[in-house]
Amino acid sequence: MRYIAIEKLERGMMLGMDIYDGKGRVLLEQGTILVSDEIQMLQGIGCTGVYIEDSFSEEVSVSMAISQGLRQEALKMVNSLFQDDGLEGVGKEEILAVTQRIIEEIRGKEQKIFDKMDVKIYEDYTYFHSVEVAVLSASLGLGCGMEPEELNTLVVAALLHDIGKRFVEEDVLNAKRRLTDEERVLIVQHPKLGYEFLRERFDFPEEVCFYVLEHHEWYNGGGYPLRKSGSDIPLIARIVKMADVYDAMTSKLPYHSPLLPTSVAEYIIENAGAEFDPELVEVFRQRVAMYPAGCEVVLSNGDTALVLENRIGAALEPKVKVIPTGEVIDLSSEENTKGLTILELLL
Ligand SMILES: [Fe+2]
Repeated sequence: MRYIAIEKLERGMMLGMDIYDGKGRVLLEQGTILVSDEIQMLQGIGCTGVYIEDSFSEEVSVSMAISQGLRQEALKMVNSLFQDDGLEGVGKEEILAVTQRIIEEIRGKEQKIFDKMDVKIYEDYTYFHSVEVAVLSASLGLGCGMEPEELNTLVVAALLHDIGKRFVEEDVLNAKRRLTDEERVLIVQHPKLGYEFLRERFDFPEEVCFYVLEHHEWYNGGGYPLRKSGSDIPLIARIVKMADVYDAMTSKLPYHSPLLPTSVAEYIIENAGAEFDPELVEVFRQRVAMYPAGCEVVLSNGDTALVLENRIGAALEPKVKVIPTGEVIDLSSEENTKGLTILELLL
């Protein structure tokens, strides 16, 4: 299986994973041999890339963190929470049940690194984003050595971190134009709106509501709404903040194209101590693959290669398969006799 940017998708290619919308409904199934209409449909809904299956990439091992089925279920639940008519059907128990399953699945794959490329539907960004932030937060939380109960709270807060956006009009959230001052004020209020909504609607422990309130605080005090800094910001809010930025920057948004994981990682590392908790940046460097499995890279000798597998602690040195020769090299091991490194991620 390999990841391919939407512009490079061709008729006859076979989908390596299901494509679903923000309600978790399958649009195209894994194994579909793509025809022109389907490629156009994917472009039309703002999908930026997909996984395809081919013989060269058979050995690629993409660490999915959670199963497709659970991802779909989580999407459906988050989506309902954002709709007035869906809200009645979702209570605290449903949210906790999904949270529990996310943690169970991620704990089962504890040694795996976070390396999935983005397969989102642009129009349904908010729902995909909520689920991705929950999954990445859980992975970072495990990296911090969190106990099950704390992890639970972390994943609930991450799933619900942007729930305040349900009170912001879609044309403001997705605006490609410059926002008016009034609209900007409304967007900046979403942590507070989310906090109030959760307090009124669900009886989660008070701290869950606070983590939602504080997910835009910066480590140096430059964030909002409380302008807290350092360890005054709870660890859970610091984790959600980092996962939020990582997922938003690697996604297609109204005001930017998706950035490469390498560029976003550089941004996060550069902003250690400013926007982000420096200790958490170290956990991020161990746990988030710079060169996700299934992507093409350029090696230091000029060859292109396909990334086969990433491991925790070796985020810059995956196992790769050289495209011209088919040779497999683990860049982090002694078999890398030429001292090859990766120069660039190709998408
Ligand atoms: Fe937010």
